[in-house]
Amino acid sequence: MRRKFIAGNWKMYKTTAEALAFAEALKGIRLDPAVEAGVCAPFTQLAALKAAFAGTDVKLGAQNAHFEDQGAFTGEVSAPMLKEIGVDYTVIGHSERREYFAETDETVNKKLRQLFAYGITPILCVGEKLERRDAGEELQVVREQLEKDLAGLTAAQVAELVIAYEPIWAIGTGRTASPDQAESMCRFIRETVAGLYDGAAADKVRIQYGGSVKPDNAAEILGRPNVDGALVGGASLVPEDFAKIVNFGF
Ligand code: 13P
Repeated sequence: MRRKFIAGNWKMYKTTAEALAFAEALKGIRLDPAVEAGVCAPFTQLAALKAAFAGTDVKLGAQNAHFEDQGAFTGEVSAPMLKEIGVDYTVIGHSERREYFAETDETVNKKLRQLFAYGITPILCVGEKLERRDAGEELQVVREQLEKDLAGLTAAQVAELVIAYEPIWAIGTGRTASPDQAESMCRFIRETVAGLYDGAAADKVRIQYGGSVKPDNAAEILGRPNVDGALVGGASLVPEDFAKIVNFGF
């Protein structure tokens, strides 16, 4: 049985003081222990949040990592640097990074390999633009991303991976995918993993939906059998809203 996993993606929001206030507020709210909960924060807040979440079940993630251990890559942060802080996950290949920071399937693939080498769980983001969905090409887009992004990974690695299906047209727009659309793409991703790897990896890999998940639509989306969790942007910035999504079935 796959455990549901709600991850907040804070993007470029919150100072460290604001992040610590969030952690403090979250400590006062009971979270469903059946659900895994984590926050993917900007780099500058990770060490402070690691300390603030100590003794709680809330896990910690980053939002990117470079694929080399070290080097002359001004402004970048490496997997061993994140490992030292004790992060559990890193978002990789978010559509905003693909769009604004020249992230490609090739760099995404290198980053996934690097994170596995350091024992950090990647949250791999895939998803189509509106024009590709309108053209009926969303399955093709996601299949191609998976083939390229997962190239060379082992079945055992893919089993440990988290894949977030984030249709770009649903990110920050308030226009969420319907529960049927989320379920059918998450099922398609699982079938694609089964075809590229094996049934055991497909059964174990956790597949999140992301795109305008809010407290009032979380239960319906998360109730679907192939949707194993959510990657939450805007609503994860407010501790009460994040907790309501974690507690969707509580
Ligand atoms: P919103 O929840 O703000 O739509 O963002 C989704 C997202 O991009 C999470 O990674």
